[in-house]
Amino acid sequence: MRYGYFDNASKEYIITDPKLPVKWINYVGGLDFGGFVDHTGGSLICKGDPAINRIIKYIPQLPDSDFKGETLYIRIKENDGYKFFSPFYVPTLDNYDLYECHVGLGYSRIISEFYGIRADVTIYVPHKSDRVIRDIKIKNLRNKSVDIDVIPVVEYTHFDALKQFDNNDWVPQTMQSKAVYEENGLITITQFAFMRKNSAVNYFTSNNSVSSFETDRRRFLGNNGYGTWACPISLYNDELSSYEALRGDNICALMHHLGQMDPGVEKRVITQLGQCENIKEEKEIIDYYRNEKNVDKAFGDLKSFWDKYLSTLHVETPDEDFNTMVNIHNPRQCYITKNWSRYLSLYQMGLGSRGMGFRDSSQDVLGILGNMPEEGRELIEKLLQVQKIDGSAMHQFNPVTMVADEGDARERQDRPKYYGDDHLWIVLAVSTYLKETGDMDFLNLNIPFYDKNKDGLPLENGTVMEHLQRAIEFTHNNIGQHGLPLLGFADWNDTVNLPARAESVFNANLYGYALLEMMDIARYLNEVELARKYQNYHETMKNAFNDACWDGEWYIRYFDKDGNALGSRNNDKCKIYVNAQSWPVISRFALADRAKKSLGSVYKYLNTSKGIKLSAPGYNGYDPDIGGITTYPPGAKENGGIFLHANIWAIIAETIVGNGDRAYEYYNQINPVTKNNNIDEFECEPYVYPQNILGDEHPQFGLARNSWLSGTASWAYQAATRYILGILPSLEGLILDPCIPAQWNGFRATRKFRNAIYTIEVVNTAHMSKGIKTLVVDGKEIRGNVIPIYDDGNEHIVRAIM
Ligand code: GLC
Repeated sequence: MRYGYFDNASKEYIITDPKLPVKWINYVGGLDFGGFVDHTGGSLICKGDPAINRIIKYIPQLPDSDFKGETLYIRIKENDGYKFFSPFYVPTLDNYDLYECHVGLGYSRIISEFYGIRADVTIYVPHKSDRVIRDIKIKNLRNKSVDIDVIPVVEYTHFDALKQFDNNDWVPQTMQSKAVYEENGLITITQFAFMRKNSAVNYFTSNNSVSSFETDRRRFLGNNGYGTWACPISLYNDELSSYEALRGDNICALMHHLGQMDPGVEKRVITQLGQCENIKEEKEIIDYYRNEKNVDKAFGDLKSFWDKYLSTLHVETPDEDFNTMVNIHNPRQCYITKNWSRYLSLYQMGLGSRGMGFRDSSQDVLGILGNMPEEGRELIEKLLQVQKIDGSAMHQFNPVTMVADEGDARERQDRPKYYGDDHLWIVLAVSTYLKETGDMDFLNLNIPFYDKNKDGLPLENGTVMEHLQRAIEFTHNNIGQHGLPLLGFADWNDTVNLPARAESVFNANLYGYALLEMMDIARYLNEVELARKYQNYHETMKNAFNDACWDGEWYIRYFDKDGNALGSRNNDKCKIYVNAQSWPVISRFALADRAKKSLGSVYKYLNTSKGIKLSAPGYNGYDPDIGGITTYPPGAKENGGIFLHANIWAIIAETIVGNGDRAYEYYNQINPVTKNNNIDEFECEPYVYPQNILGDEHPQFGLARNSWLSGTASWAYQAATRYILGILPSLEGLILDPCIPAQWNGFRATRKFRNAIYTIEVVNTAHMSKGIKTLVVDGKEIRGNVIPIYDDGNEHIVRAIM
């Protein structure tokens, strides 16, 4: 069963059936102001921190047929009275003649036809603005004229999102709405929590005259609240009650009479939802967005923003699904994870103090550095501010207040308070930034460490380079009995939480990879001693790892505090983990024969037709000594599920050893585009990577969840572009080192890099997977595979033969 299709010309995915197995969403705006819109027009919007400044109430746990956050009613006057329906299908669930939700870049557009009325509604946040625009066009398709009313509705939440659910006396006692009457029948309805009436006022308004409104949910639904969203009784009255709520569940519904519309006539209503300090001062900007021309321009600007963002890299390979992902949807998802981290989705509700993850954002940023290096650097600077003096990092932080904490490690008194991997990821983020931009001065920038004195001031500053060196030293100084880094509370796999003094193979290899990056930087800076030191660190860890961790057919994953191996053939459960095989290849720790064997074991023991399982077989029961992984049934999430983030590292490892066919097989089997014909099984959006798919130990093998906010986005983009296509920025130039399926005849790509455009053609009539035989740049053959940095604003023609 198909529910829609990709339209690459408009860079949209078009949903054609609203009855999807789960809601599919799209993001509008950013963390400053924005949120998501679902495919039936519901939305969750926040300004700043979703935990403490939420505007709209959206409860994903309610049935999909329920009202969520926002909707629109259209009312027509028939002979026997009023008939109303929502052009978004939900919440009235009428039969439709046409239903399309265009999931675009930064906007969603719902086009529908019900009862001979066509609605075309575009929903977005103008670039760098702080309001949601709903641009509503209504057209009479009937052959008779019809009297049409348009009633957009929003439902507010208390700004403290958790309080909304926790205190059902205080919250409703504080919620109020007020009308601001303007010229020409225009009205703006404000809504606020009483304590913020002069500081943070939500508002909802439109560019058409409003004859009446409603702000109290009970009155809108009617029958003392026993009316429903599917059939609000107040809509049988000519007018709403224009009541300004003094308490209770606040909504805003605006009654617009468009009047008699002749056949073929179209009318437009533009609504705005925002939040400001003072509604009088906001009037000018509200008026600006009431003007149709300005709104058209704002939408055009949004499109230009995305065109520019995507112009960094464009590829043409023989695989259309690969192109669809790499040219449009994967870089878009990277932008979303960079902005939203793990904050707000249908699955991560942004309640409480979750904030941004240090490890998560350090990886997310890798996915956008080619497209928006400035914004990437800003995020990296924030991350460095939550690194501690000892080199380790706080696990998560609030990007608005910059207050950080230790994440789940706070919940276990008997466990270490740091995560053994966090601080190492920032080394990758900085080195990738340097390689993309050449901005080596960044290394000299002074940034405070997180530790504060009693006045809340930083105890110490250090240059970016010092921050990186401390990250390395922290791991160097915190090793266990086999010479491997200590686990801390957890490593990348958040859910294995062993008692203190356990060792982590993942941390060993991430450290190894971070050391390679530090060596690149040190050598480029001519810091010979430093490069040599890191080379020694690398050698030492490589030896310790190979001495202790080879299990015969694969590498083990952890040692517990008593030196027992986990992820070994001697275990009953979780005998083998994919990360313990892929990462030693990435760190260059794996000896050649072991690399081959262990990657073969991944294929043999962990691969399925729907992706690679994180480990196998799954634990089957809770064990507090092992931790979160044992809370899942076998086959779910980290417990033997197909965790996509880790699939990508296996792809990268295969390209490093030159196995282009297998890398591509792995890529393809989890490319969401390929799931479009199998949505009844997969269920989630086919235009973004989900975090997890249930593994083959689970009866619902193939079911995806936790779409959008996953580190998979950033790494999948890197795997496709830097490792499969092999277009890899370095300090010396643009490396071209593809590892493609042998069947491909080649590919083309255009890459912007260091103020020049590289138009690349790779010819593979020899049907190889890896190895460039000749490389010609602007008509001249060059040795090796590093294309020079030109920095001249010009196009350079690159032709490579494999
Ligand atoms: C989640 C977390 C991430 C962690 C991963 C694996 O995606 O956000 O930090 O690495 O799970 O446990």
